[in-house]
Amino acid sequence: MFKLFKLQSFFLQNPAPNSKNMNVLAALNDSYDWWSKRISSLPAKAIWNISKSAFVERNILYPRYQKYIQQHKNRLPKLSAADTAIVEDIRQTGIHVSSLKALNIPHTEEFLAASEAVFQALAERAALPEHGSKHEVLANTAQLLQHEEIFQWGLSGKLLNIVENYLQLPVGYDGLQLVRSHADGREIGVRTWHKDREDRRMLKVCVYLNDVQMEGGPFECLQPMVNTPIYGLFQYQYKLLSDKELKSLLPGTEAEGIRTLVGSMGTVIFVDTALYYHRGKPPTQHHRTAVFFSYFSRRPRNPYFCQRSHLSRSDLDYLARNASAEERDCVYWFDQLPWLAKQMPKSQN
Ligand SMILES: [Fe+2]
Repeated sequence: MFKLFKLQSFFLQNPAPNSKNMNVLAALNDSYDWWSKRISSLPAKAIWNISKSAFVERNILYPRYQKYIQQHKNRLPKLSAADTAIVEDIRQTGIHVSSLKALNIPHTEEFLAASEAVFQALAERAALPEHGSKHEVLANTAQLLQHEEIFQWGLSGKLLNIVENYLQLPVGYDGLQLVRSHADGREIGVRTWHKDREDRRMLKVCVYLNDVQMEGGPFECLQPMVNTPIYGLFQYQYKLLSDKELKSLLPGTEAEGIRTLVGSMGTVIFVDTALYYHRGKPPTQHHRTAVFFSYFSRRPRNPYFCQRSHLSRSDLDYLARNASAEERDCVYWFDQLPWLAKQMPKSQN
C-alpha cells in the first residue's frame, strides 16, 4: 500500500505529458481505489460474517424480524384492488410489470420531463473520450439535484404503500440510480446474475426511459421454480454468476425459468431483487436508459450494504425539503437504526 502511495505521489509531483505515464497513473489510481475500498469495507464484512452464521440468524435476527412484522401488521396502509393485485403478483412471482400510464401516479409528466433531460445529458457524457471504456454511465448527484422531480416521484404515496404492503414493514427509500447502459455486449457488473444484499426482501421499481427490445438490454429475472433452488444453493453468498454458469445450473429449464422483460418506454417493473436472481441482459445493438428506485425495510438486515445512491445528508435535506412527515421517515430511514448500526461504515464493494 505504502509503495503504491509513494509511486502515486511521484507521478503527481512529476507530471510527464505522455500517454504512457498517464496510463500508469490511471492504473495506480484504480489500484489505490480498489485497496482503499477493500480496507474501508473490512468492518462491514466482519459484521456480515458474524450475522450470517446459522446461530445468530436463527436465535437473534430472524425472531427480531418476525417481531417487527407482528408489531406492524395492523398499521399497513389500505390498498385499492388494483394495487393489492400488484402486491399479490410480486408475492407469487417476485415481479409485476405495469406502465406509467396504468399506474397513473401524480406528477408523472414532471418525472418524465426531468428524466428526459438527464437521458440527453447522459447520452452526451457517454460520447466523451473518458467514458469510452465504460459499460454504463450513471446520473450524478448534481443532475439528481437539478432534476429533483425524479427523486420525488419515487416518494409517491402509491409506490410507498405498495412497497409497505409487500414488505409488511415500514419503508426505507434508498433513492435511485438513473443508468445508461451501453450497447457493447459485455457481461459485467449488474449484467451478471446476482441478488441484492441490502435486506431479506426489497423492491426495486424500474422504469424504462426508452423502448427496450431483446438486443437493447432488457431486465431479466428468474422465475420462482428455478430461483428457489438456486437461492437455496447460495443463500448467504452474493456470488455473481455468468449467464453460462447460471444456465449450467438450469439444465433443460432455462426457456421457462428466465423472464426477459422487453417493453416500451414507460414500462414499470416491480421486482424483489433480494429474493430473486436478476440482471440487465447485456445490450448488444441499442443502449438502454432506465431509472431504478430502491426500497427496503426501515430496519434492513444489512444496513452497511445500503445507501447505494450516494446522496449525502444535505442532498437529501434539499430533495425532501417539501416532503410530508411520513415521506421523510422513508427518506431518513437510517436515523431510526440502533446506535451501533449507525456507527458502522458502509461497505464500499
Ligand atoms: Fe441488482
